Amino acid sequence: MQNRVTRLFNIDYPIIQAGMIWASGWRLASAVSNAGALGLIGSGSMYPDALREHIQKCKAATNRSFGVNVPLIYPDIDKHIEIILEEKPPIVFTSAGNPKTWTARLKEQGITVVHVVSSSKFAFKAQEAGCDAVVAEGFEAGGHNGREETTTMVLIPAVCDAVNIPVIAAGGIATGRQMLAAMVLGAEGVQIGSRFVASPDPISHLKFKDLVIAAQEGDTQVSLKQLTPVRMMKNKFFAAVQEAEQRGATAAQLQDLLGRGRAKKGMFDGDLDEGELEIGQVSALIKKIQPAAEIVKEIWNEFETLLQQPLK
Ligand SMILES: Cc1cc2nc3c(=O)[nH]c(=O)nc-3n(C[C@H](O)[C@H](O)[C@H](O)COP(=O)(O)O)c2cc1C
Repeated sequence: MQNRVTRLFNIDYPIIQAGMIWASGWRLASAVSNAGALGLIGSGSMYPDALREHIQKCKAATNRSFGVNVPLIYPDIDKHIEIILEEKPPIVFTSAGNPKTWTARLKEQGITVVHVVSSSKFAFKAQEAGCDAVVAEGFEAGGHNGREETTTMVLIPAVCDAVNIPVIAAGGIATGRQMLAAMVLGAEGVQIGSRFVASPDPISHLKFKDLVIAAQEGDTQVSLKQLTPVRMMKNKFFAAVQEAEQRGATAAQLQDLLGRGRAKKGMFDGDLDEGELEIGQVSALIKKIQPAAEIVKEIWNEFETLLQQPLK
């Protein structure tokens, strides 16, 4: 199957492995790219030197396209962009910030730029900023979320109506049937995060991965809405935030409670009580840890099979 997304990235399947802090380094990204989909390095948890190393290792590990996800709120963003302009990965996915700031600069260097949005208004702004495509990420997604809480089912058709550039659906997609549903809604590709956490390839702690495959419906919730809303597993840290919010904690008090390094503590160090464990609602459907290439193949085979079948 070829469409605007496979042609834009020069990939076999319109499946993108999401950039994810403490999960998506060069190993996962290159495994996904070698399997014919698009792997992204998540720069949000990397010091600038580490980002350079991951890009170089990814270049050595695959001759297929790969990209880098750059959350624009990163404190050292100028240094990350400098490294990207030097190393020139073929594709950059920006998120959490204004796409106007860097898109033109990256595109001048021949880099394909995609921006992640949570509303059709921001999708239109990304198109105006010159982005080649948008990821429309619904409220089901793991990690940072839109304040308007629009779900994937509503967001995808709304964004598809608002822009002419290709739309990639994200949030709550982990299987071929969910991918097919997203494509019926008008998306031309899918970005998948949580399912790729449950793989030996991410750098995340095994305890976190085991928790992901044991998750049930209702085990995740969006929290820290006064700061930046983030979907995470309900654990001791989540309960402490809830309690603080019920007591009427201010944003500054919540920031103190969050402290520094919470996400690393949970997802990388494996502290399942005190860490921030970012994961999507779809974790309830993820049942096993599998190599990334197997995940790509399974999703694609299910998608293709269902595409041939009549509706029930
Ligand atoms: C552990 C984790 C970390 C994430 N980190 C980032 C990040 O650094 N930058 C970003 O743009 N999105 C991040 N996200 C969101 C993903 O890129 C992706 O859009 C989302 O996971 C899709 O929804 P899903 O989890 O239902 O597959 C993260 C998601 C997870 C689960």
